[in-house]
Amino acid sequence: MMSLDSRNAPSLDLPARFMVLAIVSFAVAVGISPWALPLMQGGFNTFPLLAFVHLVTLGFIGAMIIGASYQLVPVALQAPLRSVRLGRASFWIYLAGLVLFLTGLLREWLPGLSIGGTLLGIGFTLYIAIVLGTLLRAPYRDAVGWHIAIGAVFSGVGMTYGVLLAFNKGSGFLGGQLLDVLAAHIVVMLSGWVAITFIGVAYRLIGMFTLAEKHLQPRPMWAGLVLVAGGTALLSLALLAPWPWIVAQGAAAMILAGFVVFAAQVRRMYRRRMRRTFDIHMPFAIAANTMMILSAASLTVGLVLGMTPADPLPMATGWLAIFGVALTAIQGFFYKISTFLVWLKRYAPLAGRQSVPKLEEMYSKRVALAGFWTWLTAIVGGWLMLILGLDWLPLIGLALIAGASCFVVNVVTIARHWFAPAEAPASSVVRRPGTKGGMTQ
Ligand code: HEM
Repeated sequence: MMSLDSRNAPSLDLPARFMVLAIVSFAVAVGISPWALPLMQGGFNTFPLLAFVHLVTLGFIGAMIIGASYQLVPVALQAPLRSVRLGRASFWIYLAGLVLFLTGLLREWLPGLSIGGTLLGIGFTLYIAIVLGTLLRAPYRDAVGWHIAIGAVFSGVGMTYGVLLAFNKGSGFLGGQLLDVLAAHIVVMLSGWVAITFIGVAYRLIGMFTLAEKHLQPRPMWAGLVLVAGGTALLSLALLAPWPWIVAQGAAAMILAGFVVFAAQVRRMYRRRMRRTFDIHMPFAIAANTMMILSAASLTVGLVLGMTPADPLPMATGWLAIFGVALTAIQGFFYKISTFLVWLKRYAPLAGRQSVPKLEEMYSKRVALAGFWTWLTAIVGGWLMLILGLDWLPLIGLALIAGASCFVVNVVTIARHWFAPAEAPASSVVRRPGTKGGMTQ
């Protein structure tokens, strides 16, 4: 069975720096949400809303996916990362691009937007080159590796649309095509990059956490990938080309079908898992999975009904996809990934020589669950406010803060183990990670 660590994994500072950026962005975004969420009801592409959306999508989701991919790709593909040095460079370029891009959006400063967008584009290009370069040298490529690689390719397409949109803010060269390119940018980034990468990573991580990887069925996994990737590609083309609208509707239905196939695989793993105990990632993964299907269904319905960006459904769908799916799933997996990486760094050298804590003793399960239910209530409440056009979104922001605070408190608790004194406050002797009791306990 596979672990999150292997001799191929890069030095921990590489994923850790992206993850720190992600957590800081998450804390800021959630902290300002009582003021920022009402922007969603005041026009879909105002500058302050765009800044908030990209603080979440690039600052949190993007940084977390890139950091986690640098850790997981070598483990999944059993090959060292193509270049750790380029990986580190990609972080600084991404960070500089993010700061300039967000400043450009906030201040309506067009050079900042263009330069920041370009730097982000370079950061993405390095990430894609590293992932694909690692895939090419891998001795063994499975469905999980292909999910991450195809997700990376989609991020390149979505990033290209994003850079075009950034330059368009100054020159307006997209003219009447602006809305089509914007829609293609959103679909490719969320469905092509975030969802496909999440699905691939989830297959591996859920299998690992529950000891159920052997119950995954390769054919449905591949079918799901073809449906989501094919549907995303077709939908983004249908948005840009003068094709009959039914193509876009069919493509959205393909994405929905792919998500259902994924959910069925996850259900199968949970039902047949060898580790029958509750695991903290489960409520987060089940909620994210459900909202993934709801957001794809809502996209399909929106296309069938011929909704425009001015209707409430598209904004509510975006809310569900970004806050409901991506942010919920990342919190669940982060509990597991972060505890493991900190455990590896701090306690692995001591394991066997002295008692060290178990992974689940490194944070409070009760706080995690309180955070989960508050967060979920906020997501459902936010969706209702957007659909019904009620102006109570600041309250939803407060609920998000309450839910996210539980998560951040646990993250800080986990991070404190990194600096724990040599005599760990441990209760039990734990085996090394990568063995049956390590990551998966
Ligand atoms: C290279 C990175 C990126 C660049 C340069 C970029 C650029 C842009 C620009 C300029 C717009 C506004 C277009 C307009 O209204 O005129 C936009 C909108 C949007 N982008 Fe990005 N983007 C990037 C990455 C992402 C990512 C990673 C995601 C999601 C995972 C994302 C999701 C969105 C969404 C949802 C909107 C619509 C926001 C709204 O209408 O309020 N972007 N992007």
